[in-house]
Amino acid sequence: MKNTNAERELAFDFLRVTEAAAIESAKTMGQGDRKHSDHVAVEAMRLVMDQVPMQGRIVIGEGERDEAPMLYIDEEVGGADFPNDVRSKFPEVDIAVDPLEGTNLCALGASNAIAVLAAAERGGLLNAPDMYMDKIVVGPSCKGSVDIEAPVAENLRNIARRLGRDVDDLTVVCLDRDRHRQLIADVRAAGARIRLISDGDLSTAISAAVAGTNIHALMGIGGAPEGVITAAAMKCLNGEIQAKLVFDHERLGVDKDKIPPIDQLMKRINSMGITDTNKIYDTNDLAPGKKIIFAATGVTDGSLLKGVRFFGEGKRTHSVVMTTETKSIRFVDTVHVEGGPDAVIRF
Ligand code: FBP
Repeated sequence: MKNTNAERELAFDFLRVTEAAAIESAKTMGQGDRKHSDHVAVEAMRLVMDQVPMQGRIVIGEGERDEAPMLYIDEEVGGADFPNDVRSKFPEVDIAVDPLEGTNLCALGASNAIAVLAAAERGGLLNAPDMYMDKIVVGPSCKGSVDIEAPVAENLRNIARRLGRDVDDLTVVCLDRDRHRQLIADVRAAGARIRLISDGDLSTAISAAVAGTNIHALMGIGGAPEGVITAAAMKCLNGEIQAKLVFDHERLGVDKDKIPPIDQLMKRINSMGITDTNKIYDTNDLAPGKKIIFAATGVTDGSLLKGVRFFGEGKRTHSVVMTTETKSIRFVDTVHVEGGPDAVIRF
């Protein structure tokens, strides 16, 4: 990406991309078929993304080429309607996508499913493998006050001090998983309130960085790709993520099908240049880009974004679009009019 204008224009292009994915997946809300919800989001995202004037490359997507037909890692996207000599002048962009974050949430009609995308100049987003990552996420006021390796109670005391309140006035969010038994016990013992979520640690992480959502920290183990996209959002929101890749699969207690065998993972990690498996990643390690664009659209109602609403003559979407270079955070409420010239637009 060359200049601010290009970034600004791309931001609106990316908004259209997440809106399209959100609309298609929202149509399947509550139908109980998470794979189908994800599939339609991917198709819609891919279709609109190809119209964006860029030389895009997927760095975090739906998996490797052999397991994903589109939005696979290294896939080239964007500028499809342009001849090569024109396309070659478009900005080079690395893209991380989660066309439907919270596939179960959408399938069940539960809150906080979003369609999301982060972009940066080449090399601006860590090409994280599809594995698990331990994370702690806080907002701007608590930046620099937490340490992923410190005891939970110490982190909570520091967050409370920064926010000028008592620990028992904090709300910590964490995925409701067996692997978090100790974490949950520690948060409770420290006296903080806790909200257990069934899925969607990315949308929750974003809320943790926005004052007024009543979420003060996200803690625990979720997906590494979601961690990178969270970091992109933190760069725009001035929040902080600290993270560690999790190799100890026994500790996770997750279905073995969900993670590649350890030797395969190590191969992939080494190919990405990661040699230190104990490395603590901060926001900049995960999203080193200087020109980050982040776009997310609500699929179902959530703490930050409303879900897609359908009415006779169109649809309405609610999104957030943020960029580091223009330092803007836009909440965008879009009415997509489909009716004829007399279609009624309601406030
Ligand atoms: P999907 O959108 O792929 O369904 O992932 C949802 C999610 O809850 C993420 O928010 C989270 O990082 C991850 O899954 C946790 O994984 P697991 O469900 O295996 O614990």
